[in-house]
Parts: sequence; C-alpha cells; structure tokens
Amino acid sequence: MSLQYDHQHLNDILEAANVAGFEFLESLATRPAGCTLQPLPHDILSEEGLGAQKALSVFRGKYEALLSASPGPRYLGFVTGGSTPAALAGDWLVSSYDQNVGSDGDSIATTVERETLGLLRALFSLPESFDGAFVTGATQANFVALATARQWAATRLGIDVSEQGLWNVPPIPVLGGSPHASILKALSMLGMGRKTMEYLPGLPGRVAVDPQALAQRLAALNGAPAIVVASAGEVNTGDFDDLEALAGLCKTYSAWLHVDGAFGLFAACDPTRAHLLRGLGAADSITADGHKWLNVPYDSGFVFTRHLTLHQQVFKVTAAYLGDGSDLSHRTPEDSRRFRALPAWMTLMAYGKSGYRELVARCCSLAQQMAQGIEQMPHFELLAPVRLNIVCFTLRGVNPAQRDSFLERLKEDGRVLLTPTFLAGKPAIRVAFVNWSTSEQDIPLILNALEQCASE
Ligand SMILES: Cc1ncc(COP(=O)(O)O)c(C=O)c1O
Repeated sequence: MSLQYDHQHLNDILEAANVAGFEFLESLATRPAGCTLQPLPHDILSEEGLGAQKALSVFRGKYEALLSASPGPRYLGFVTGGSTPAALAGDWLVSSYDQNVGSDGDSIATTVERETLGLLRALFSLPESFDGAFVTGATQANFVALATARQWAATRLGIDVSEQGLWNVPPIPVLGGSPHASILKALSMLGMGRKTMEYLPGLPGRVAVDPQALAQRLAALNGAPAIVVASAGEVNTGDFDDLEALAGLCKTYSAWLHVDGAFGLFAACDPTRAHLLRGLGAADSITADGHKWLNVPYDSGFVFTRHLTLHQQVFKVTAAYLGDGSDLSHRTPEDSRRFRALPAWMTLMAYGKSGYRELVARCCSLAQQMAQGIEQMPHFELLAPVRLNIVCFTLRGVNPAQRDSFLERLKEDGRVLLTPTFLAGKPAIRVAFVNWSTSEQDIPLILNALEQCASE
C-alpha cells in the first residue's frame, strides 16, 4: 500500500485510530489490570506494506487484548497515572502538530512550554526564581538536575566539567537517606558512579533521613562541596525528608540540595498536605513527573532549577546553524524535543488548581481507606503509616517467594495490579494511588480481590 494512498485516506485512518483508542479506554474498568500472556512471535517485514488501516487492524487483532489496563482505575503498581481527557486530547494533537520544541522563533510551541512551566510553578507554589524544562520523566529529571549539581560542585573546585570533563575532579560526596533507584542510575550515567551514593541513617520508624546525621557528615567535609538528595515522597511509603531542616543544613554547609518529588511534589496541591514540602523553595533543583499525579500520558516529567546558567553550561549545544544559548534545547539532553508541554498545558487549563486539589486529596483518602481495610484483615499487616498516597503492607509471615506467588494470583485474578518491594528487609507490597479515575467504589473490589487471593 502506498503512502500516497494513505495520505488520501488520512481522515479514515485517524477515525479508525480514534475508534481503537476509545474502545480501549472504555474497556479499562473491566479489562484485567495487568497482562499475564506471553508476546507472540514477531511479524516479518514485508516488501509491500499493508497500509495504515490494515496495519492497525493487524495490531488490534494480535496485541490489543494483551495490553494492560495501566491507565485504568485499579492498576496501582509502581506509581502509575492515567491520562485526563484534556491531557489525552493534547497528546493526540502533539503528534498531529509534530513541532520540534528546540529553538525559539521557530514555533510558538517553545512559548507554550515556558508558559506551562509557569503554570506548574504556580501549582507547586514554587518561587519565580525556579526555571526548568520538560523531560521524559523523573529519571531523566534526576539525571539533568544531578548533572547541574555536578557542574556546580566542580566549579567550586575551579573546574568546568562541561568543558574539561571529570578527569581532575575529586569524588563529590552525594548524601541521602532513601534515594530512588533512578538517582543511582543518574550517578552511573554521569560518570560519578552508583557507589558514590552515601546512605545516611534514617529517623526511627521513618523512611526519612536523620538531619543530625546529615549535619555531622556535612561538617566532616570541612567545606568540600557535596550534593544532598532529598526525597519528597519516598516510593515505598510516601514518607518525606524534612526539607526545611535539610535546606537549612545545605545553606550552613554550602551544599547543593536536590529534591526528588516525582509524585510527592503534588502534596503542594492540597493545603492539608502542603506542609510536607515546607522548605522546598530553598532547594537548588527539583524533580517531578507528569505521567504520575498530573495524569498526562507517558512520557513526561519536569526539572526545575534555581541555577539556569550552570544548567545551560551542561546542556548547551553549539553549532553554526543552531540558535543561541537561551533556547530550550540548551536545557535538556535532547536537542530535538517533543511538544511534551501541550498535554500538561491542556490538563492544567482544563481542571485548574481545584481539579488537582481534589485529585490529590481523593487519592490520599483512598490510600487511608485501603490501609484501614488492610488493618482489619487477618491475613495482612500494614508496614508503614500512610503519609500521602502509598500503602505499604505484607501478607503475615510470608517469604519473598510466597509474596510473589500471591501477587501472581492477584495478577491472574485481574481486578487489581500491585508491585512487590522490601521494607526494612521484609518482603512487602506497595499500592500507589495517583490515577484520576480511581474512586471509592474500587476499594471494596480491591480488598475482596486481596482477601480471595490470600485465602487460595
Ligand atoms: C521518587 C521517584 N523518583 C523517580 C522515579 C522515576 O520515575 P520515572 O519512572 O518517571 O523515570 C520514581 C518512579 O516511581 C519515583 O517514585
């Protein structure tokens, strides 16, 4: 089938894609939350293509039933958001518009990204001194932020890493209590190494760093530059480091404070939980995700920095045909960039502050309800208090293999999908509520599924 033929039938093709997308979304409440089936063998690349409509119907016939219901209400593994209707419409248009959001003056899309960063700043109550960029997710945001932190630390030692490399830089201490795995990945990608991460003791019964332990460690550095990585929403428990205390210490000892708030930054939307982020405004860099609690489609995250000049030193890209240093392509690893801001702009404009206030409060309340249900079930044990939107629990007396086979039974049951973890050495299970479509009606369904699979 020729491209010209498809071009002439574009409307029909988009209509067929629309039907496919709509039918999938309509199936989310009833389709198994996770997929237990194995992928089928690959197709062979044909000489003559099938044309878009036929390709779509082959895809639907072969793969559609194997897609997970991850944008649906009861996929509560990892930290998985869905897509609000406005975000979804925006994301569709991103592909139609297909703008390259690298250089100013080429398209209004760069202005929309800057404007969206401003909307997010308002959502998170961040000072105007923060600027940033859209990236593909929190892992990339952590990478970008730590690259800037590394630039800062080396500059203090008289070295411009962006020009000279790491060859003469002594190890830069990176300190934290419970960094997300993506921080280690970022350290690996940055040539700083995963083993550079120094884990400091936590507060008793908490997954939050002990500020006194941090103070001692920073004091012992005698003024050498260090990077402190704080968690605003730890992935297993939703616990928060005391950002105010950490910011104070970073100021005293001239350390860089990076805050990973991939999902926890959204506590700012709810006045009853905003105190969890007290001190955030003094951070040097901040990570948050779009594809979690903002509920825009994958892949979307953002990084904020108070040090745009250093940031741009790291990511600048110079060539005779490219724009000057203020373009967005000087802020991220990518030069050519997707119009990732549009779905975020759409959803923020569509639902506003009150929409996200309600969403965050509802998810936190669902986590509380789920925890209360767990506490009343003899098979289960709650492992941590619910501080935000995450429930961490276990089956009483199980080893990791028994925990895994329980989760496998749950996946086969299909009503809910949860993911395993370890908490203080115990095999545990995590539940994360960030999806806009999860409601109170889902809680009894989830608890029934847990009870049934635990009794089997
Ligand atoms: C605290 C935290 N940081 C970073 C990440 C990585 O996010 P992503 O998968 O969007 O890169 C996650 C993911 O759950 C997270 O919870």
